[in-house]
Amino acid sequence: MNETASITFAEQSYDIDVIKGSEGELGLDIGQLRSKSGLITLDPGYVNTGSCQSAITFIDGEAGILRYRGIPIEQFAQSPNFIEVAWLLIFGSLPTRHEYDDFVVDLRKHANLDEGMKHHFEGFPRNAPPMAILSAMINALSCFYPELMKIEDPESFRNAAARLISKVRTIAAYAFRHSMGLPFIYPDPTLRYVPNFMHMMFSQPYQQYECSETVNTALSLLLILHADHEQNCSTSTVRMVGSSQANLFASCSAGVSALWGPLHGGANVAVIRMLEQIHEGNMTPEDYVKLAKDKNSDVRLMGFGHRVYKNFDPRAKILSEQAQSILREMKLHDPLLDIARKLEEIALQDPYFVERKLYPNVDFYSGIILRALGIPTDMFTVMFAIGRLPGWIAHWWEQHQTPGSRISRPRQIYTGNTKMDYMPIEQR
Ligand code: CMC
Repeated sequence: MNETASITFAEQSYDIDVIKGSEGELGLDIGQLRSKSGLITLDPGYVNTGSCQSAITFIDGEAGILRYRGIPIEQFAQSPNFIEVAWLLIFGSLPTRHEYDDFVVDLRKHANLDEGMKHHFEGFPRNAPPMAILSAMINALSCFYPELMKIEDPESFRNAAARLISKVRTIAAYAFRHSMGLPFIYPDPTLRYVPNFMHMMFSQPYQQYECSETVNTALSLLLILHADHEQNCSTSTVRMVGSSQANLFASCSAGVSALWGPLHGGANVAVIRMLEQIHEGNMTPEDYVKLAKDKNSDVRLMGFGHRVYKNFDPRAKILSEQAQSILREMKLHDPLLDIARKLEEIALQDPYFVERKLYPNVDFYSGIILRALGIPTDMFTVMFAIGRLPGWIAHWWEQHQTPGSRISRPRQIYTGNTKMDYMPIEQR
Protein backbone atom coordinates (compact mmCIF):
# COMPACT_ATOMS: atom_id res chain seq x y z
CA MET A 1 0.00 0.00 0.00
CA ASN A 2 1.29 3.47 -0.92
CA GLU A 3 2.06 5.69 2.06
CA THR A 4 1.06 9.33 2.03
CA ALA A 5 2.10 12.44 3.92
CA SER A 6 0.11 15.63 4.13
CA ILE A 7 0.80 19.35 4.15
CA THR A 8 -1.63 21.73 5.82
CA PHE A 9 -1.75 25.35 4.70
CA ALA A 10 -4.51 27.94 5.19
CA GLU A 11 -6.64 25.29 6.88
CA GLN A 12 -6.52 23.07 3.85
CA SER A 13 -4.77 19.69 3.78
CA TYR A 14 -3.03 18.25 0.73
CA ASP A 15 -2.10 14.58 0.47
CA ILE A 16 1.33 13.86 -0.88
CA ASP A 17 2.44 10.43 -2.11
CA VAL A 18 5.54 8.98 -0.49
CA ILE A 19 7.89 7.33 -2.99
CA LYS A 20 10.07 4.49 -1.73
CA GLY A 21 13.40 3.53 -3.36
CA SER A 22 14.77 -0.01 -3.62
CA GLU A 23 17.03 0.64 -0.58
CA GLY A 24 14.16 2.04 1.48
CA GLU A 25 14.84 5.76 0.86
CA LEU A 26 11.68 7.83 1.15
CA GLY A 27 10.72 10.93 -0.80
CA LEU A 28 7.67 13.18 -1.01
CA ASP A 29 6.26 13.35 -4.52
CA ILE A 30 5.32 17.04 -4.75
CA GLY A 31 4.67 16.95 -8.52
CA GLN A 32 1.09 18.24 -8.04
CA LEU A 33 1.75 20.53 -5.07
CA ARG A 34 1.76 23.86 -6.89
CA SER A 35 -1.22 23.13 -9.11
CA LYS A 36 -3.27 22.05 -6.08
CA SER A 37 -2.10 24.50 -3.40
CA GLY A 38 -0.22 27.34 -5.12
CA LEU A 39 2.82 26.48 -2.99
CA ILE A 40 6.30 25.63 -4.19
CA THR A 41 9.16 24.26 -2.10
CA LEU A 42 12.33 26.29 -1.53
CA ASP A 43 15.59 24.39 -1.09
CA PRO A 44 18.74 26.35 -2.03
CA GLY A 45 21.55 24.00 -2.96
CA TYR A 46 18.94 21.21 -3.35
CA VAL A 47 19.99 19.80 0.02
CA ASN A 48 16.63 18.02 0.48
CA THR A 49 15.49 17.78 -3.11
CA GLY A 50 15.44 14.66 -5.24
CA SER A 51 15.58 15.61 -8.92
CA CYS A 52 14.86 12.17 -10.38
CA GLN A 53 14.56 8.46 -9.72
CA SER A 54 17.71 6.65 -10.82
CA ALA A 55 18.89 3.03 -10.90
CA ILE A 56 22.58 3.76 -11.46
CA THR A 57 24.35 4.50 -8.18
CA PHE A 58 23.39 4.10 -4.54
CA ILE A 59 24.98 6.12 -1.74
CA ASP A 60 24.26 5.84 1.98
CA GLY A 61 26.12 8.86 3.31
CA GLU A 62 25.54 8.00 6.96
CA ALA A 63 26.97 4.49 6.59
CA GLY A 64 29.68 5.43 4.05
CA ILE A 65 28.31 3.10 1.35
CA LEU A 66 28.76 3.57 -2.41
CA ARG A 67 27.51 1.01 -4.96
CA TYR A 68 27.50 1.04 -8.77
CA ARG A 69 24.41 -0.80 -10.06
CA GLY A 70 24.32 -2.57 -6.69
CA ILE A 71 28.00 -3.60 -6.55
CA PRO A 72 29.98 -2.15 -3.60
CA ILE A 73 32.77 0.14 -4.77
CA GLU A 74 35.35 -1.84 -2.77
CA GLN A 75 34.80 -4.87 -5.03
CA PHE A 76 36.26 -3.05 -8.01
CA ALA A 77 39.57 -2.45 -6.24
CA GLN A 78 40.89 -6.02 -6.55
CA SER A 79 41.59 -6.01 -10.30
CA PRO A 80 40.37 -2.62 -11.52
CA ASN A 81 38.99 -2.50 -15.05
CA PHE A 82 37.64 0.94 -15.97
CA ILE A 83 36.05 -0.17 -19.24
CA GLU A 84 34.06 -2.89 -17.50
CA VAL A 85 32.81 -0.35 -14.95
CA ALA A 86 31.96 2.16 -17.68
CA TRP A 87 29.85 -0.49 -19.41
CA LEU A 88 28.21 -1.49 -16.14
CA LEU A 89 27.19 2.08 -15.35
CA ILE A 90 25.99 2.93 -18.84
CA PHE A 91 24.23 -0.28 -19.83
CA GLY A 92 23.10 -1.54 -16.43
CA SER A 93 24.91 -4.87 -15.99
CA LEU A 94 28.44 -6.25 -16.21
CA PRO A 95 29.37 -6.92 -19.85
CA THR A 96 29.54 -10.46 -21.21
CA ARG A 97 32.89 -11.43 -22.72
CA HIS A 98 31.47 -10.74 -26.18
CA GLU A 99 30.08 -7.29 -25.23
CA TYR A 100 33.32 -6.38 -23.51
CA ASP A 101 35.54 -7.40 -26.44
CA ASP A 102 33.33 -5.53 -28.90
CA PHE A 103 33.38 -2.40 -26.78
CA VAL A 104 37.17 -2.52 -26.47
CA VAL A 105 37.46 -2.80 -30.25
CA ASP A 106 35.20 0.24 -30.62
CA LEU A 107 37.23 2.24 -28.12
CA ARG A 108 40.46 1.38 -29.92
CA LYS A 109 38.95 2.24 -33.30
CA HIS A 110 37.68 5.64 -32.22
CA ALA A 111 40.64 6.99 -30.23
CA ASN A 112 41.88 9.23 -33.01
CA LEU A 113 40.64 12.78 -33.50
CA ASP A 114 39.67 14.20 -36.87
CA GLU A 115 42.76 16.01 -38.21
CA GLY A 116 40.66 19.17 -38.50
CA MET A 117 39.98 19.06 -34.81
CA LYS A 118 43.67 19.15 -33.97
CA HIS A 119 44.01 22.66 -35.42
CA HIS A 120 41.70 23.96 -32.73
CA PHE A 121 44.29 23.19 -30.05
CA GLU A 122 46.72 25.57 -31.77
CA GLY A 123 44.31 28.44 -31.18
CA PHE A 124 44.45 28.13 -27.39
CA PRO A 125 47.17 30.00 -25.52
CA ARG A 126 49.89 27.75 -24.07
CA ASN A 127 48.74 28.45 -20.53
CA ALA A 128 45.04 27.82 -21.22
CA PRO A 129 43.47 25.80 -18.38
CA PRO A 130 43.07 22.21 -19.67
CA MET A 131 39.51 22.07 -18.28
CA ALA A 132 38.56 24.93 -20.63
CA ILE A 133 40.10 23.07 -23.56
CA LEU A 134 38.39 19.82 -22.54
CA SER A 135 34.97 21.41 -22.28
CA ALA A 136 35.36 23.26 -25.60
CA MET A 137 36.68 20.24 -27.47
CA ILE A 138 34.01 17.84 -26.19
CA ASN A 139 31.42 20.29 -27.48
CA ALA A 140 33.36 20.61 -30.75
CA LEU A 141 33.08 16.83 -31.27
CA SER A 142 29.47 17.38 -32.27
CA CYS A 143 30.67 19.47 -35.26
CA PHE A 144 32.94 16.69 -36.48
CA TYR A 145 30.54 13.78 -35.91
CA PRO A 146 27.12 15.36 -36.53
CA GLU A 147 25.59 11.92 -37.13
CA LEU A 148 26.13 11.21 -33.42
CA MET A 149 23.94 14.11 -32.40
CA LYS A 150 20.88 12.17 -33.46
CA ILE A 151 20.61 9.38 -30.97
CA GLU A 152 17.49 7.49 -31.89
CA ASP A 153 18.17 3.93 -30.83
CA PRO A 154 20.46 1.94 -28.50
CA GLU A 155 22.91 1.29 -31.34
CA SER A 156 23.47 4.96 -32.17
CA PHE A 157 23.75 5.71 -28.45
CA ARG A 158 26.36 2.97 -28.02
CA ASN A 159 28.38 4.43 -30.90
CA ALA A 160 28.28 7.93 -29.46
CA ALA A 161 29.20 6.67 -25.97
CA ALA A 162 32.17 4.67 -27.29
CA ARG A 163 33.47 7.64 -29.27
CA LEU A 164 33.17 9.98 -26.35
CA ILE A 165 34.84 7.66 -23.82
CA SER A 166 37.64 6.95 -26.25
CA LYS A 167 38.24 10.46 -27.57
CA VAL A 168 38.11 12.20 -24.20
CA ARG A 169 41.52 10.82 -23.26
CA THR A 170 42.98 11.91 -26.63
CA ILE A 171 41.63 15.42 -26.08
CA ALA A 172 42.96 15.43 -22.51
CA ALA A 173 46.42 14.26 -23.58
CA TYR A 174 46.56 16.79 -26.43
CA ALA A 175 45.55 19.62 -24.10
CA PHE A 176 48.60 18.71 -22.01
CA ARG A 177 50.91 18.33 -25.03
CA HIS A 178 49.80 21.72 -26.31
CA SER A 179 50.54 23.35 -22.96
CA MET A 180 54.06 21.90 -23.09
CA GLY A 181 54.67 22.81 -26.74
CA LEU A 182 55.09 19.11 -27.56
CA PRO A 183 53.95 17.32 -30.74
CA PHE A 184 50.75 15.31 -30.58
CA ILE A 185 51.24 11.56 -30.35
CA TYR A 186 48.76 9.38 -32.23
CA PRO A 187 46.86 6.82 -30.17
CA ASP A 188 48.20 3.27 -30.44
CA PRO A 189 45.40 0.75 -31.11
CA THR A 190 47.43 -2.08 -29.58
CA LEU A 191 47.39 -0.45 -26.13
CA ARG A 192 44.76 -0.76 -23.42
CA TYR A 193 42.72 2.27 -22.27
CA VAL A 194 45.04 3.67 -19.58
CA PRO A 195 48.39 2.76 -21.22
CA ASN A 196 47.16 4.39 -24.44
CA PHE A 197 46.34 7.58 -22.54
CA MET A 198 49.74 7.59 -20.84
CA HIS A 199 51.39 6.95 -24.23
CA MET A 200 49.68 10.02 -25.71
CA MET A 201 50.66 12.04 -22.64
CA PHE A 202 54.30 11.04 -22.28
CA SER A 203 55.73 9.27 -25.36
CA GLN A 204 58.10 11.23 -27.57
CA PRO A 205 58.35 10.74 -31.34
CA TYR A 206 61.74 9.11 -30.66
CA GLN A 207 60.93 7.36 -27.39
CA GLN A 208 57.98 5.20 -26.36
CA TYR A 209 56.58 5.67 -22.83
CA GLU A 210 56.31 2.27 -21.13
CA CYS A 211 53.28 2.09 -18.85
CA SER A 212 54.03 -0.23 -15.93
CA GLU A 213 51.35 -2.48 -14.48
CA THR A 214 51.52 -0.44 -11.26
CA VAL A 215 50.64 2.74 -13.14
CA ASN A 216 47.91 1.02 -15.18
CA THR A 217 46.29 -0.48 -12.08
CA ALA A 218 46.54 2.70 -10.00
CA LEU A 219 45.09 4.95 -12.69
CA SER A 220 42.35 2.45 -13.61
CA LEU A 221 41.28 2.32 -9.97
CA LEU A 222 41.32 6.09 -9.69
CA LEU A 223 39.11 6.45 -12.76
CA ILE A 224 36.71 3.82 -11.39
CA LEU A 225 36.42 5.58 -8.03
CA HIS A 226 35.43 8.76 -9.86
CA ALA A 227 33.10 7.08 -12.37
CA ASP A 228 29.76 8.02 -10.82
CA HIS A 229 28.35 9.64 -7.73
CA GLU A 230 24.64 9.99 -8.41
CA GLN A 231 23.22 13.55 -8.49
CA ASN A 232 26.40 15.57 -7.81
CA CYS A 233 26.81 19.06 -9.28
CA SER A 234 28.29 18.04 -12.65
CA THR A 235 25.96 15.08 -13.18
CA SER A 236 22.94 17.21 -12.32
CA THR A 237 24.26 19.74 -14.83
CA VAL A 238 24.51 17.06 -17.52
CA ARG A 239 20.93 16.02 -16.75
CA MET A 240 19.73 19.62 -16.69
CA VAL A 241 21.27 20.39 -20.10
CA GLY A 242 20.16 17.02 -21.49
CA SER A 243 16.60 17.68 -20.31
CA SER A 244 16.27 20.34 -23.04
CA GLN A 245 17.12 17.51 -25.47
CA ALA A 246 20.58 18.98 -26.06
CA ASN A 247 22.91 16.33 -27.52
CA LEU A 248 25.21 14.10 -25.47
CA PHE A 249 28.37 16.08 -26.33
CA ALA A 250 26.88 19.46 -25.39
CA SER A 251 25.54 17.98 -22.14
CA CYS A 252 28.87 16.39 -21.14
CA SER A 253 30.76 19.55 -22.08
CA ALA A 254 28.58 21.40 -19.56
CA GLY A 255 29.40 18.67 -17.02
CA VAL A 256 33.12 19.43 -17.45
CA SER A 257 32.47 23.10 -16.68
CA ALA A 258 30.53 22.25 -13.54
CA LEU A 259 33.24 19.87 -12.38
CA TRP A 260 35.92 22.54 -12.73
CA GLY A 261 34.98 24.45 -9.56
CA PRO A 262 37.08 24.03 -6.39
CA LEU A 263 34.09 22.86 -4.36
CA HIS A 264 33.64 19.96 -6.79
CA GLY A 265 36.29 18.30 -9.01
CA GLY A 266 38.67 21.25 -8.73
CA ALA A 267 39.21 20.29 -5.09
CA ASN A 268 41.91 17.77 -6.08
CA VAL A 269 44.07 20.65 -7.31
CA ALA A 270 43.20 22.79 -4.29
CA VAL A 271 44.28 19.97 -1.94
CA ILE A 272 47.74 19.76 -3.51
CA ARG A 273 48.13 23.56 -3.42
CA MET A 274 47.19 23.45 0.28
CA LEU A 275 49.69 20.65 1.02
CA GLU A 276 52.42 22.44 -0.96
CA GLN A 277 51.79 25.64 0.95
CA ILE A 278 52.29 23.78 4.23
CA HIS A 279 55.33 21.94 2.86
CA GLU A 280 56.96 25.19 1.78
CA GLY A 281 56.93 26.12 5.42
CA ASN A 282 54.48 29.00 5.20
CA MET A 283 52.20 27.27 7.69
CA THR A 284 52.08 24.25 9.97
CA PRO A 285 49.25 21.69 9.62
CA GLU A 286 47.95 22.97 12.97
CA ASP A 287 47.88 26.57 11.68
CA TYR A 288 46.03 25.49 8.57
CA VAL A 289 43.34 23.60 10.50
CA LYS A 290 42.94 26.62 12.77
CA LEU A 291 42.45 28.87 9.76
CA ALA A 292 39.98 26.45 8.16
CA LYS A 293 37.86 26.67 11.33
CA ASP A 294 37.99 30.45 11.48
CA LYS A 295 34.67 31.85 10.24
CA ASN A 296 36.41 35.14 9.38
CA SER A 297 38.59 33.42 6.82
CA ASP A 298 37.33 31.89 3.59
CA VAL A 299 39.85 29.06 3.88
CA ARG A 300 38.51 25.51 4.04
CA LEU A 301 40.31 22.28 4.69
CA MET A 302 40.26 21.15 1.08
CA GLY A 303 39.43 17.49 0.47
CA PHE A 304 37.35 17.44 3.65
CA GLY A 305 33.58 17.40 4.01
CA HIS A 306 30.85 16.23 1.70
CA ARG A 307 27.21 17.04 1.04
CA VAL A 308 26.18 13.41 1.27
CA TYR A 309 28.83 11.59 3.33
CA LYS A 310 28.55 12.22 7.04
CA ASN A 311 31.03 9.42 7.59
CA PHE A 312 34.21 8.31 5.79
CA ASP A 313 33.90 8.65 2.02
CA PRO A 314 34.52 5.00 1.01
CA ARG A 315 36.53 6.23 -1.99
CA ALA A 316 38.87 8.18 0.31
CA LYS A 317 39.40 5.05 2.42
CA ILE A 318 40.51 3.08 -0.63
CA LEU A 319 42.70 5.93 -1.91
CA SER A 320 44.33 6.47 1.47
CA GLU A 321 45.54 2.84 1.48
CA GLN A 322 46.45 2.97 -2.20
CA ALA A 323 48.52 6.14 -1.85
CA GLN A 324 50.81 4.37 0.60
CA SER A 325 51.21 1.18 -1.42
CA ILE A 326 51.66 2.95 -4.79
CA LEU A 327 54.41 5.18 -3.40
CA ARG A 328 56.05 2.07 -1.93
CA GLU A 329 55.81 0.12 -5.21
CA MET A 330 57.18 3.07 -7.16
CA LYS A 331 59.91 3.53 -4.54
CA LEU A 332 58.88 7.14 -4.03
CA HIS A 333 58.57 9.24 -0.92
CA ASP A 334 56.20 12.18 -1.09
CA PRO A 335 56.39 14.56 1.88
CA LEU A 336 52.90 15.77 0.94
CA LEU A 337 51.51 12.38 1.98
CA ASP A 338 52.99 12.84 5.47
CA ILE A 339 51.39 16.30 5.66
CA ALA A 340 48.04 14.93 4.49
CA ARG A 341 48.16 12.22 7.17
CA LYS A 342 48.96 14.83 9.81
CA LEU A 343 46.08 17.09 8.69
CA GLU A 344 43.69 14.13 8.74
CA GLU A 345 44.84 13.12 12.22
CA ILE A 346 44.38 16.64 13.60
CA ALA A 347 41.00 17.21 11.93
CA LEU A 348 39.52 13.87 12.95
CA GLN A 349 40.21 14.71 16.62
CA ASP A 350 39.02 18.29 16.44
CA PRO A 351 35.48 18.94 17.76
CA TYR A 352 34.82 21.40 14.86
CA PHE A 353 35.23 18.63 12.28
CA VAL A 354 33.77 15.88 14.50
CA GLU A 355 30.56 17.82 15.26
CA ARG A 356 30.04 18.73 11.61
CA LYS A 357 30.86 15.17 10.49
CA LEU A 358 33.59 16.34 8.15
CA TYR A 359 35.78 13.48 6.88
CA PRO A 360 38.32 13.17 4.06
CA ASN A 361 36.60 12.95 0.66
CA VAL A 362 37.77 11.42 -2.64
CA ASP A 363 39.91 14.46 -3.44
CA PHE A 364 42.02 14.33 -0.29
CA TYR A 365 44.40 11.54 -1.43
CA SER A 366 43.76 11.37 -5.19
CA GLY A 367 46.22 14.16 -5.99
CA ILE A 368 49.05 12.41 -4.17
CA ILE A 369 48.49 9.32 -6.32
CA LEU A 370 48.25 11.37 -9.52
CA ARG A 371 51.53 13.11 -8.64
CA ALA A 372 53.22 9.76 -8.13
CA LEU A 373 52.02 8.67 -11.59
CA GLY A 374 53.61 11.76 -13.12
CA ILE A 375 50.35 13.59 -13.91
CA PRO A 376 50.88 17.37 -13.63
CA THR A 377 48.69 19.21 -11.12
CA ASP A 378 46.90 21.23 -13.81
CA MET A 379 45.60 17.97 -15.24
CA PHE A 380 44.14 16.55 -12.00
CA THR A 381 40.60 17.77 -12.59
CA VAL A 382 40.83 16.58 -16.19
CA MET A 383 41.58 13.09 -14.82
CA PHE A 384 38.48 13.37 -12.65
CA ALA A 385 36.49 14.26 -15.79
CA ILE A 386 37.80 11.26 -17.74
CA GLY A 387 36.73 9.08 -14.81
CA ARG A 388 33.30 10.73 -14.40
CA LEU A 389 32.40 10.60 -18.11
CA PRO A 390 30.74 7.12 -17.99
CA GLY A 391 28.57 8.38 -15.11
CA TRP A 392 27.50 11.46 -17.08
CA ILE A 393 26.73 9.33 -20.13
CA ALA A 394 24.76 6.83 -18.03
CA HIS A 395 22.64 9.59 -16.48
CA TRP A 396 22.08 11.34 -19.80
CA TRP A 397 20.86 8.05 -21.31
CA GLU A 398 18.75 7.09 -18.30
CA GLN A 399 16.97 10.42 -18.51
CA HIS A 400 16.67 10.21 -22.30
CA GLN A 401 14.96 6.83 -21.98
CA THR A 402 12.65 7.71 -19.12
CA PRO A 403 9.12 8.01 -20.47
CA GLY A 404 7.57 11.38 -19.74
CA SER A 405 10.93 13.10 -18.94
CA ARG A 406 10.35 16.84 -18.75
CA ILE A 407 12.63 19.82 -19.20
CA SER A 408 14.30 20.80 -15.89
CA ARG A 409 12.92 24.14 -14.95
CA PRO A 410 12.96 25.05 -11.24
CA ARG A 411 10.74 27.76 -9.76
CA GLN A 412 11.84 30.64 -7.55
CA ILE A 413 10.51 32.96 -4.90
CA TYR A 414 10.80 36.43 -6.39
CA THR A 415 12.23 39.06 -4.03
CA GLY A 416 12.76 42.03 -6.39
CA ASN A 417 10.84 45.29 -6.93
CA THR A 418 7.10 45.15 -7.11
CA LYS A 419 5.55 46.82 -10.18
CA MET A 420 7.12 50.20 -11.00
CA ASP A 421 7.16 52.44 -14.07
CA TYR A 422 9.93 52.86 -16.61
CA MET A 423 11.65 56.27 -16.33
CA PRO A 424 13.20 57.94 -19.43
CA ILE A 425 16.98 58.47 -19.10
CA GLU A 426 16.67 62.32 -18.93
CA GLN A 427 14.58 62.04 -15.80
CA ARG A 428 16.86 59.65 -13.87
N1 CMC B 1 36.66 22.99 6.01
C1 CMC B 1 36.14 23.73 7.01
N2 CMC B 1 34.83 23.79 7.29
C2 CMC B 1 34.00 23.10 6.51
C3 CMC B 1 34.47 22.33 5.44
C4 CMC B 1 35.86 22.28 5.19
N3 CMC B 1 36.36 21.56 4.20
N4 CMC B 1 33.42 21.74 4.82
C5 CMC B 1 32.33 22.15 5.47
N5 CMC B 1 32.67 22.96 6.50
C6 CMC B 1 31.76 23.55 7.49
C7 CMC B 1 31.03 24.75 6.91
O1 CMC B 1 31.73 25.95 7.13
C8 CMC B 1 29.72 24.67 7.68
O2 CMC B 1 29.96 25.16 8.98
P1 CMC B 1 28.78 25.94 9.79
O3 CMC B 1 27.70 24.90 9.98
O4 CMC B 1 29.44 26.40 11.04
O5 CMC B 1 28.35 27.07 8.89
C9 CMC B 1 29.45 23.18 7.81
O6 CMC B 1 30.77 22.57 7.78
C10 CMC B 1 28.60 22.60 6.68
O7 CMC B 1 29.23 22.94 5.45
P2 CMC B 1 28.45 23.33 4.14
O8 CMC B 1 29.34 24.18 3.26
O9 CMC B 1 27.10 23.85 4.47
O10 CMC B 1 28.29 21.89 3.46
P3 CMC B 1 27.89 21.61 1.98
O11 CMC B 1 27.23 20.29 1.99
O12 CMC B 1 27.15 22.76 1.39
O13 CMC B 1 29.30 21.54 1.21
C11 CMC B 1 31.39 20.74 0.44
C12 CMC B 1 29.99 20.36 0.95
C13 CMC B 1 32.06 19.49 -0.11
C14 CMC B 1 31.27 21.74 -0.71
C15 CMC B 1 32.20 21.35 1.62
O14 CMC B 1 32.38 20.38 2.62
C16 CMC B 1 33.55 21.88 1.15
O15 CMC B 1 33.65 23.02 0.72
N6 CMC B 1 34.65 21.05 1.25
C17 CMC B 1 35.92 21.47 0.75
C18 CMC B 1 35.98 21.33 -0.77
C19 CMC B 1 36.06 19.89 -1.19
O16 CMC B 1 36.84 19.10 -0.68
N7 CMC B 1 35.25 19.53 -2.22
C20 CMC B 1 35.23 18.17 -2.79
C21 CMC B 1 33.93 17.48 -2.51
S1 CMC B 1 33.96 15.71 -2.82
C22 CMC B 1 34.21 15.47 -4.50
C23 CMC B 1 33.36 16.27 -5.40
O17 CMC B 1 32.17 16.49 -5.19
O18 CMC B 1 33.88 16.67 -6.42
